[in-house]
Amino acid sequence: MMIDFHSHIIPNVDDGSQSFDITKDMLKNSALEGATHICATSHYIPGEFEQQKDIYDSTFLKVKEIGQDMGINVIKGLEVYITPNLLELYNNGLIWCLNDRKYMLIELPMREFPLYTEDVFYELRLKGVTPILAHPERNFKISNNPEILKNLVEQGNLAQINAGSLTGAYGNTIKEAAEQLVKRNLVHMVGSDGHNNERRNTFIKKAFSNIKELNPELHKWIKENEINILNGEDVSPLSVRELKKASLFSRLFSKK
Ligand SMILES: [Fe+2]
Repeated sequence: MMIDFHSHIIPNVDDGSQSFDITKDMLKNSALEGATHICATSHYIPGEFEQQKDIYDSTFLKVKEIGQDMGINVIKGLEVYITPNLLELYNNGLIWCLNDRKYMLIELPMREFPLYTEDVFYELRLKGVTPILAHPERNFKISNNPEILKNLVEQGNLAQINAGSLTGAYGNTIKEAAEQLVKRNLVHMVGSDGHNNERRNTFIKKAFSNIKELNPELHKWIKENEINILNGEDVSPLSVRELKKASLFSRLFSKK
């Protein structure tokens, strides 16, 4: 079992795959990587990519069939860009959860942490929807101050890390931020965030071995819980670890 929680494999609905041929290549790559499931989390960005449910659904079914031929299970989803009215969009059926269950993948702007984030997540949780923050390591505010993510996680939200962040695809700064989040149990699932069949393909395997090396306990937790998340079951995340104090102590200790 290996689940890719984040990809743009549905063709022609966002800035991801631009054809069924590209989608086929991406799924082939995904199967080669050893993924058993891949979530088709097309962008939902108001004013830019607003998915039409009927178009998404019919294209999804075609992609799911292609996946079946390759032995990979394609799962419905969206990557929803945060706005103050997510609950309203959800209530009106304009946005939906992974596998139509209870977890919703949500992204923040890259450079900002909107003040209303915690409130919007709270409203969704009251409605029974658990937010999963997409690639927090790529958000400038969070990578500079992981306490922001610690608060979100302790409030009952989850977080998805991009495989490429751990393998250096976005540079060293993001790689280091990603490693810190993994060491602190601040992420709960992995996604390729695959957009095409080239550099941003559906790579995921190496990231799992990186996580196993950095934090074996978290690796085990992910392996045990990823299917439960897909099935919309409740999970109990590992407690957030405090690494800063420990490293200060060890530095003081080593000076003596
Ligand atoms: Fe994405």
